[in-house]
Amino acid sequence: MSASILKGKKGIIFGALDPQSIAWKVAERCVEEEARITLTNAPVALRMGQLQQLGEKLNAEVIAADATSVDDLTALFEKSQEILGGQIDFILHSIGMSLNVRKGKGYTDLNYDWMQKTFDISAISFHKVMQTALKQDVMAEGGSILALTYIAAQRVFPDYNEMAESKALLESFARSFGYHFAVEKNVRVNTISQSPTKTTAGSGVKGFDAFFDYSDKMSPLGNASAASCADYCVMMFSDYTRMVTMQNLYHDGGFSSMGMNPAVLRDA
Ligand SMILES: NC(=O)c1ccc[n+]([C@@H]2O[C@H](COP(=O)([O-])OP(=O)(O)OC[C@H]3O[C@@H](n4cnc5c(N)ncnc54)[C@H](O)[C@@H]3O)[C@@H](O)[C@H]2O)c1
Repeated sequence: MSASILKGKKGIIFGALDPQSIAWKVAERCVEEEARITLTNAPVALRMGQLQQLGEKLNAEVIAADATSVDDLTALFEKSQEILGGQIDFILHSIGMSLNVRKGKGYTDLNYDWMQKTFDISAISFHKVMQTALKQDVMAEGGSILALTYIAAQRVFPDYNEMAESKALLESFARSFGYHFAVEKNVRVNTISQSPTKTTAGSGVKGFDAFFDYSDKMSPLGNASAASCADYCVMMFSDYTRMVTMQNLYHDGGFSSMGMNPAVLRDA
């Protein structure tokens, strides 16, 4: 399913860790559609992960950057423009990590230092990406910026923990910064609210497998896969969506509109 709808476009993809990562699939699809990209992740993730292999396969430079560091982001944007030869048409923020989730702390027993770190990594980094890009005039006219989110920003999913507030903050940054990017640079900013997906970050949430199956049954089309999320991202980076901005877009097989699905009761 390739139509070269990103031909001539230049992009930066944050957050591909391994072949399960949503960002991994997005990177592959963008290059299939003839975009040229750079790949970035935190230095520790580059040491542990397989990103270099993806870079070689896609002919994409891999640049280390901690997304919570404005200095790292500044250097990343400079290098990416140098490598790709000019301003950037699209950016994917695909970053999430909760220290409290990782360390097994429940929602009523949170460590607040860790919570601050979680917000910095999972949400404030998105503001940092956009503010740094705006100040450096990185984005090309008509460009598109996307971040990935989850419906726990709107509804209660008890085991999603402090990531719920991270996603609420992330989505709010997309709306507020989307205004400024639109009037100053004619650039779109949106979030895609994705189904549960079996990745390193996703599987870190307690009871993930049972919840994945529940969500699959609850969604009339079933859970959206990482590959279909990549298709959606490609469309959002393309010129077909130039007037879509400041939106939280559900990509969830219909989950967000359901109240009750008989399929869930039938199989209970
Ligand atoms: N998996 C799901 O069920 C699901 C559902 C909805 C939304 N999302 C969101 O999709 C995005 C991607 O997650 P994923 O599921 O592909 O998992 P993943 O674990 O493959 O990706 C998370 C990425 O964040 C990166 N990261 C962490 N700290 C960083 C830092 N300081 N600087 C730069 N990068 C850093 C990790 O190295 C990793 O590559 C996240 O925002 C996640 O919340 C995931």
